[in-house]
Amino acid sequence: MIRELGDVIPVPAEVRPDTAVRFHFDAGTAIGATPGTEQVAAYLADILRPATGFDLPVTPAETPEGSGAVALRLDRSLADEEYRLEITDGGVTLTGGASAGLFYAVQTLRQLLPAEIFATTPHGIGWTLPGGTIVDRPRFAYRGAMLDVARHFFTVDEVKSYLDTLAQFKINHLHLHLTDDQGWRIEIESWPKLTAISGGDGTGVDGAGPGFYTRDDYTEIVAYAANRYVVIVPEIDMPGHVNAAQVAYPELTADGVAPPQRTDTAVGYSSLVAGKPETYAFVEDVLREVAELTPGPYLHIGGDEAQATTAEDYRTFIQRALAVVTGLGKSPVGWHEMAAVDLPPSAVTQFWRIEAMDDGTARAAAGGGKVLMSPADRTYLDMKYTAESPLGLDWAGLLDVEKAYGWDPAERLPGVGEQALLGVEAPLWSETLRSLADVQTMAFPRLPAIAEIGWSPRESRNWESFRHRLAACGHRWRLQGVAFHRSPEVPWPA
Ligand code: ACM
Repeated sequence: MIRELGDVIPVPAEVRPDTAVRFHFDAGTAIGATPGTEQVAAYLADILRPATGFDLPVTPAETPEGSGAVALRLDRSLADEEYRLEITDGGVTLTGGASAGLFYAVQTLRQLLPAEIFATTPHGIGWTLPGGTIVDRPRFAYRGAMLDVARHFFTVDEVKSYLDTLAQFKINHLHLHLTDDQGWRIEIESWPKLTAISGGDGTGVDGAGPGFYTRDDYTEIVAYAANRYVVIVPEIDMPGHVNAAQVAYPELTADGVAPPQRTDTAVGYSSLVAGKPETYAFVEDVLREVAELTPGPYLHIGGDEAQATTAEDYRTFIQRALAVVTGLGKSPVGWHEMAAVDLPPSAVTQFWRIEAMDDGTARAAAGGGKVLMSPADRTYLDMKYTAESPLGLDWAGLLDVEKAYGWDPAERLPGVGEQALLGVEAPLWSETLRSLADVQTMAFPRLPAIAEIGWSPRESRNWESFRHRLAACGHRWRLQGVAFHRSPEVPWPA
């Protein structure tokens, strides 16, 4: 069966089908990579070879010899993430404003092939693309997901697997929540006990397990993400959510006494001490080392749920932490409580709470600051789908797929409109999630809803269309070994 040209998630900006034509891949199809497109061309060949069994040689030519040509090009008149995909009887042309756009053209092409293209062994079926032209570009610069690796740790390979599935939906940021009360998951050479103690045995919720990323591990994740045009946004949560740091270094507490290790899921009880010099030695060393591992522009400093910090100490601490981040040449990101202080121009405020009104975020936006939208009741993928969901929490309400899809980030907060928005992010907190399959089950199929909100023009979003397009993902996820929730809202094929 040949797919329809617009049967893609996120739905493209412009779709012009031409049902009179179609393109067939066969054993003679070759891929032509013009200068600057070689890496994406190699990636395209890599993802098409296993299921098709075709050679798909990549040659440095505009029009390769062969029974049909797939040509990759750059066109600097397009925005970096913008692309054009033209499909005719004689060939396919993918044009990107930069490599990122070309990569998105590849993701669209992949979804337009039969689902079996996601198989890892050859399938002798017809590999046909529907004819026509797609011209596509994102609504928001930042389309994100977050994974909490502190409450339960996820290995480098598990994070890579999550990145592979995110990139298929044109998600371009993965925020890693690296530290919390229950564990510290990133090696800091100047404070080695952070991971030696708080990345070790007995850490995590219910003491479920050790784990942390060495600097090499982390660098590997950053590079793997970059090859999929995903920027890693590291979060060191402060001044609250720091029990694990204080277990390792008691000088970070008010009385210098180490607190007990915590494996429960309470929040709001730990705090760095705003008036102690040790606090800032810690903050400066940790953020400097994390910045060294971070080619991307953002360092996330948390700032949420600091109930154990007085309002005055909170402001003192956040001002200092913001100055450290900007001094490292990075843009600070923080949960929206951070907006209690005057923010530097490069700061990004991440809105998460479920109340409709929040003055700090609107004030930050009024001052020209950028806002990242993660309202818990629409984007927190750890919320249960239904009351019966075995995984997840429900403090922000139940979140079915239609609810995750049916809202708009520019309408969520008075005073925070389109111009103020950097984008959207779907956090996944891991208190109840122990395995990659658990993560996938909560992310899919809701993450594609957030991805479409972040990418597609607002006027082209439509729930009926979306749930039918989602149905086509089920077979692809099965072929990739990706767990997903068989939400009854989606007309999954039998
Ligand atoms: C948060 O959910 N505490 C940001």
